[in-house]
Amino acid sequence: MTTQPVIAIEGITHAYQTDTGPLPVLHDISFDIAPGGFTAVVGPSGCGKSTLTKLVSGLLKPDSGRVILDGKPVTSPRPTVGMAFQNPVLLEWRSILRNVLLPLEIVRGHGLSREQAEARAHELLTLVGLSGFEHKRPSELSGGMRQRASLCRALIHRPSVLILDEPFGALDAFTREDLWQIMFKLRIEQGVTCMLITHDLRESMFLADEVIVLSDRPAGIQHRLTVPLGQDRTIEDLYKPEIVECLAELRRQIQIAQGRRSATEEAA
Ligand SMILES: Nc1ncnc2c1ncn2[C@@H]1O[C@H](COP(=O)(O)OP(=O)(O)OP(=O)(O)O)[C@@H](O)[C@H]1O
Ligand SMILES: [Mg+2]
Repeated sequence: MTTQPVIAIEGITHAYQTDTGPLPVLHDISFDIAPGGFTAVVGPSGCGKSTLTKLVSGLLKPDSGRVILDGKPVTSPRPTVGMAFQNPVLLEWRSILRNVLLPLEIVRGHGLSREQAEARAHELLTLVGLSGFEHKRPSELSGGMRQRASLCRALIHRPSVLILDEPFGALDAFTREDLWQIMFKLRIEQGVTCMLITHDLRESMFLADEVIVLSDRPAGIQHRLTVPLGQDRTIEDLYKPEIVECLAELRRQIQIAQGRRSATEEAA
C-alpha cells in the first residue's frame, strides 16, 4: 500500500503577466512530499523558488497543473499551512507569547481553549529554547531568537504543512547552525510535512530527506538527490565523505543551472 503524499505538486507551470508581456517562471514541475517528509528546493536566484511557495500555499494560481494538499486541490490559502520567511515580522506591540498565539485569533475551528493554546505556545517556546522569554517584546530578542519565535507562531495551530522560504538566510553562520538543529527537532517532534527554500546547500542536506535542484527560469526540475542521513543526524555528519560528495554534486548542478543562464545571456 502506498501512502498518500501530504503535498503533491502535479505539473505546475506559471508565468507572470508583466507590462512587457508574459514572464514564464516555472515549467511543468512535479514532485510529492510524504507525510512528515522534508524536501528542500534550491536553484539559481530569481528562478522561481518563492513563486513555487506561493503556488503551493494557494496565494497564486498556476496557469496549468495543480497542487494537492492533504488530498484536496488547493484553490485558496488554507489554515492547515504554516509559513515562515527570511524576515520573521513579529508585531512589536505584542509580547513573544502573544505573537506566537496570533494565528489562533485568525484561524477558526482550531478547537483549543485559551489555556490549551497557551500551554501549546509554552511547549513550542520551550522546544526552541525560548522558555522565560514569553513576556519580552520582539525588540528585546536577537535575530535568531526572533526567528525561533516565528517558527513557533507558524506551528501553533498544528498545520499539516510548513512552508519555509529562506527562514535562516539573514542569520550568522553559528546562529544558523543552531536553528537547523532546532528546526530538525521541531520537524521530528511535530510530525509536520515541510518544504524549504534555501540558498544554503549544507542547510538543505542537514534538514531534508530530498533536495530538488531547479534549473534557471523558466525553471524545471534539473536534479533530485536523496539525502543519505537518518533521523539522528548531527552537524558533524555534514563532514562525512558521502555527504561532502553529495554537496559537491549539488554545487555542480547549481553551476550547470547558472551556466545555462550565462550561455543564454551571452547569446542574447
Ligand atoms: N508579482 C510578480 N510580477 C511579475 N514578476 C514577478 C513577480 N514576482 C516575481 N516575479 C519575477 O519572477 C521571477 C521569479 O521570482 P521568485 O521570487 O520566485 O524567484 P526566487 O527563485 O525566489 O529568487 P531569489 O532566489 O532571489 O529569492 C523573477 O524574475 C521575479 O522578478
Ligand atoms: Mg525567493
